[in-house]
Amino acid sequence: MKIELKNKNIVLGVCGGIAAYKSVELLRRLKKEAANVRVIMTENAQWFVGPVTFEALSGHPVCINLFENGDDATISHIQWAEEADAVVIAPATANIIGKLAGGIADDALSTFLLAVTTPVLVCPSMNTNMYLSPPMQRNIQTIKTDGVIVLEPAAGELACGTEGPGRLPEPEFILDRLKACLTPKDLKGKKILVTAGPTREPIDPVRFISNPSSGKMGYAIARAAEQRGADVVMVSGPVDLPTPFNIEVIKVETAQEMAETVFSNMKDIDIMIMTAAVSDYRPKAQASQKIKKVKEELVLDLTRNQDILKELGAKKTTQFLVGFAAETERLEEHAGQKLKEKNLDIIIGNLVGSPTSGFQAETNQVTIFYKDGSKEPLPLMKKDEVAHILLDRIADII
Ligand code: PMT
Repeated sequence: MKIELKNKNIVLGVCGGIAAYKSVELLRRLKKEAANVRVIMTENAQWFVGPVTFEALSGHPVCINLFENGDDATISHIQWAEEADAVVIAPATANIIGKLAGGIADDALSTFLLAVTTPVLVCPSMNTNMYLSPPMQRNIQTIKTDGVIVLEPAAGELACGTEGPGRLPEPEFILDRLKACLTPKDLKGKKILVTAGPTREPIDPVRFISNPSSGKMGYAIARAAEQRGADVVMVSGPVDLPTPFNIEVIKVETAQEMAETVFSNMKDIDIMIMTAAVSDYRPKAQASQKIKKVKEELVLDLTRNQDILKELGAKKTTQFLVGFAAETERLEEHAGQKLKEKNLDIIIGNLVGSPTSGFQAETNQVTIFYKDGSKEPLPLMKKDEVAHILLDRIADII
């Protein structure tokens, strides 16, 4: 149930703020995803970016004035409102937010906003003091209560020279939230715990045993679950990925830390998905100082780490438990064995060792193995597509 923007009717509202230039990039990204985008600008937005730019990129006339001659502008706000799958206002100024909160319709954009019934995503961008002012905060609260989705502005140095919240979030992030608006919330009310990334088992203060897991697969599942309305906790090993929006991320280093964190967070969890590449062994002892290369050979004594997944399989009561099996050969045999031994509901057999599948890749080649003995091989696809298919199957079963 991955939400595609392809052929979706999106209305982009652009207001008069310095961040209007970013809405050009947002429009470009929407078009790249094959969305059908129409732009409504306020009069003041034209001071920052001209309508010709939006017209050229969207392939449609831009609506600015309710009473323009020469095209269907007088009715377009109603017609566009009826056809829109979602609306995004970026940047949203204090003025448009105030109008929306007060039900004022005195130009094309504000009139359109009263007529629209599909999800509206408002992305405020303004001076920090304006944003934090009591009337602004009151208005944001009012539109949220009315069902409008309001993005927190990013914090940082603003064009006006102040520092603090007020920056328009990056187009990538707005796009992600837009998809979330459009995604049916079939996992609403479900609590999901995901593990992701590698673990690091220290040898001495500067060396460790680890593996190439990037966390991409686990983060894709966490993001997909959040988009579908779940309450997500992620226990993550060290990875170089941005913290996903609206997800509690608990950072850990070692397998032991991951085990303790998972066990202490499993209460009230409905679905547990273990994508982490947990180190099976750790050095028996960690040297307190950097080991010097004095000997020709060095033997490390390793000891077994706890199998977190197996322990979860033994402890679980009502939770739905999903494991991953990273295999370089005999996928079905190895994955099937882990499914049984660890008392899992599903195991994802993951062929690793190719540049397009498994560790670090953007795509993945997996087979879903079910408890009843059936299996479902999936073609090579993006990790976020794998994530949504896995969540579809889980949602069907539970
Ligand atoms: O992070 P990416 O770069 O996107 O790569 C994704 C991935 C290849 C890491 C992921 O898709 C994957 O296959 N994860 C499982 C990796 C793994 O450790 O497989 P395993 O067969 O060794 O372990 C089986 C299961 O037991 C896994 O769910 C693992 O989380 C769990 N396990 C393993 C050892 C251990 N001590 N405790 C565990 O809980």
